[in-house]
Amino acid sequence: MNKYDYLIVGSGLFGAVFAHEAHKRGKKCLVIDKRNHQGGNVHCEKIEGINVHKYGPHIFHTNDKELWDYVNSFVEFNNFVLTPLAKYQDRLYNLPFNMNTFYQLWNVQTPAKAKEKIQSQVVNPINGEAANLEEQALSLVGTDVYQKLIKGYTEKQWGRKATELPAFIIKRLPVRFTFDNNYFNDRYQGIPVGGYNKLMDGLLNGIEVRLEQDYFADRGHWDSVAEHTVFTGKIDQYYDFRFGQLEYRSLRFETEILDTDNFQGNAVINYTEREVPYTRVIEHKHFEHGKQEKTVVTKEYSQEWSAEKEPYYPINDEKNDQIFRQYQQLARNQPEVIFGGRLAEYRYYDMHQVIASALKKVSDHFIDLDVTHLSLT
Ligand code: FDA
Repeated sequence: MNKYDYLIVGSGLFGAVFAHEAHKRGKKCLVIDKRNHQGGNVHCEKIEGINVHKYGPHIFHTNDKELWDYVNSFVEFNNFVLTPLAKYQDRLYNLPFNMNTFYQLWNVQTPAKAKEKIQSQVVNPINGEAANLEEQALSLVGTDVYQKLIKGYTEKQWGRKATELPAFIIKRLPVRFTFDNNYFNDRYQGIPVGGYNKLMDGLLNGIEVRLEQDYFADRGHWDSVAEHTVFTGKIDQYYDFRFGQLEYRSLRFETEILDTDNFQGNAVINYTEREVPYTRVIEHKHFEHGKQEKTVVTKEYSQEWSAEKEPYYPINDEKNDQIFRQYQQLARNQPEVIFGGRLAEYRYYDMHQVIASALKKVSDHFIDLDVTHLSLT
C-alpha cells in the first residue's frame, strides 16, 4: 500500500488548494517543490520588514464572492487598490487609460473632448484589418496614447518591434471616460494582511511539504509514494519534450534596499519608453501601506526565455498551442494524473482563476472517486 493518497508536485496556488481540499476530506498528501520555499510564484521574501513579491507584483482581485470568502477564510485582506502610473520621458500618466490620462496628455476635461481627441488620432488600417500590433493599437486609441504609453512598453515586454508583433496580442484596449484609476474592474481586491505567505501557510497547514525536491530528479521514486499524482510543473517536461519544448517569455528582477522611506509614492510605475531597459519599478511597501524606515524597490526586466530561465508567460501562438494540444491529449489518456496550474495547462492564470480551477478539479475528482467506489461496492 502507498504511504500517501496524493503526491502533489508544486506548492503554488494550484497544488496548495488541491492539497488543502484533499486533506480536508481525510486524504494523506505529500507536497514536493523544487524550490527552497513553498508558495510558488506568490511567495514573498521579507526584506527590511517589507514583504517583497519575489516573482513580480501580485494583487488579488475577483468578482466571485465565494472565492473571496474562501481566501479570506485563511487570511484577512487589506484594502489595497492597484492604481499604476506610467512614466514617459519626464512625465507621469495615470493608468489604465482614463480621464486623468487624457487630461495629462491633452488637458481635456470632459469625456466628449477626450473622445473627440482620440477619434482625431485614430488610424484605420489600410486593408480594413490590422496587420500587426502597431496598426491594431493605432486603430483603437490613436497616435499619442500609442506612441507614449503602449509602443515602448510592449516592445520591451515582447523583445520585438510592434510592427513585428501579431495584432491579436491587443484584442481590445480598455479606455475609460471617467476619472477612475482603479486598474481592475473587479468587486473585491486586496493584498493578504501579513503577505501572501500567510495565505499559503493557511492552505498548507497540517500538510507535509518537502522542499528542494525536483520530481524529475527521481520520478521513479516519487511515482511510487502515492496512489494519485497532482502535477503542476511543466507538461512538456512531464512527457520528456516528445513533441518539442513549449516556449515562454521570461523576466529578470533587480531588487535593492533604498535608504529612504518612500521612493516613488506608488506600488507600480511602468516605464513606457523603449530606451529605459526595464518595464516597471515596484515599491513593495505600498502594497501594505508600510511605514518602515527604508524601502525596497524592484526593477522588472523582460527577457528571452531559455530552458535554464524561469518560465513566466506562455507564448500562446499557433505553433505553441498546437504543441500543447498534443501534450494535452496524452494527459487526457492518463486520468490517474491530475494536471493543473499555469505550467501544466500552459496558460496565463490570475490567482483567483487558478484557485477556482483547483477547486473545480478537486471536486470533480472526488465525485469521480465516489462514483467509482459506489460502482465497485
Ligand atoms: P506556480 O508557478 O505558482 O507554482 C508551481 C510550483 O511548482 C512552483 O513552486 C514550482 O517550483 C513547482 N514545480 C515546478 N516543477 C516542479 C518539479 N519538477 N518538481 C517540483 N516542483 C516543481 N495573478 C493575479 O491574480 N494578480 C496579479 O497581480 C498577478 N501578478 C503576476 C505577475 C507576474 C509577473 C506573473 C508571471 C504572474 C502574475 N499573476 C498574478 C499570476 C499568478 O502568479 C499565478 O496565477 C499563480 O502563481 C499560478 O499558480 P500555480 O500553482 O499554477 O503556479
